[in-house]
Amino acid sequence: ASQPAPVICIDGPTASGKGTIAALVAEKLGFALLDSGALYRITGLAASRAGLDITEANAPAIADLVRSKAITFTPNHRVLLDGDDISLAIRTEEAGMNASRVAVFPAVREALLQVQRDFRRLPGLVGDGRDMGTVIFPEAPLKVYLTASAECRAERRYKQLISKGLSANMADLLADLQARDARDMHRAAAPLKPAEDALYLDNSSGTIDEAVQQVLTWWEQRQPFT
Ligand code: DC
Repeated sequence: ASQPAPVICIDGPTASGKGTIAALVAEKLGFALLDSGALYRITGLAASRAGLDITEANAPAIADLVRSKAITFTPNHRVLLDGDDISLAIRTEEAGMNASRVAVFPAVREALLQVQRDFRRLPGLVGDGRDMGTVIFPEAPLKVYLTASAECRAERRYKQLISKGLSANMADLLADLQARDARDMHRAAAPLKPAEDALYLDNSSGTIDEAVQQVLTWWEQRQPFT
């Protein structure tokens, strides 16, 4: 019988460094990468482009909309929505906030469930998100819960936005990030929380390389999955 591809889950709050760490771990191991937050960002963008307000009444329509869309992640990290390159459009703060708002609806989460599981393939997958370890891949052999202080995350997000040529303001960023954390952690459907068997990784002070190395060390300790 063939062994299902192993999954490394990296969950945590916004701007904790998850995306960067997940991408580097995937690259080191030759694993596929699932940026699940991008799917919620795409959903939020698709809704606003279709003129659908993000309300509970519209949740079924938003879920149907995303089911009808062709979402493509290209090998050179571009994101296409029905062929249209939306890589940059989904990275704004507004897109992040809209993602967090559509992510509250169970119908939307349901529409994205299989899309996410389909990313799983040999030799393995690194999944980055909020509910990778708790809902999407509960049987994953390694679950990491990444933390970092809100101030530290706001500063990281600030640098990210500036480096992409987007405008940013620290006080607004911190307030938005705290609002997003609160919504993601306190929603009823798949809230952000550590899986019972998650290992905590604090990314406030160390370097990205140290965090990546820690995940790789934990992974080695999970042999014979590799
Ligand atoms: O990781 P990110 O900032 O790109 O995620 C954007 C939003 O999407 C986040 O605030 C909440 C939602 N999200 C989610 O509910 N579940 C996931 N697995 C990933 C993201």
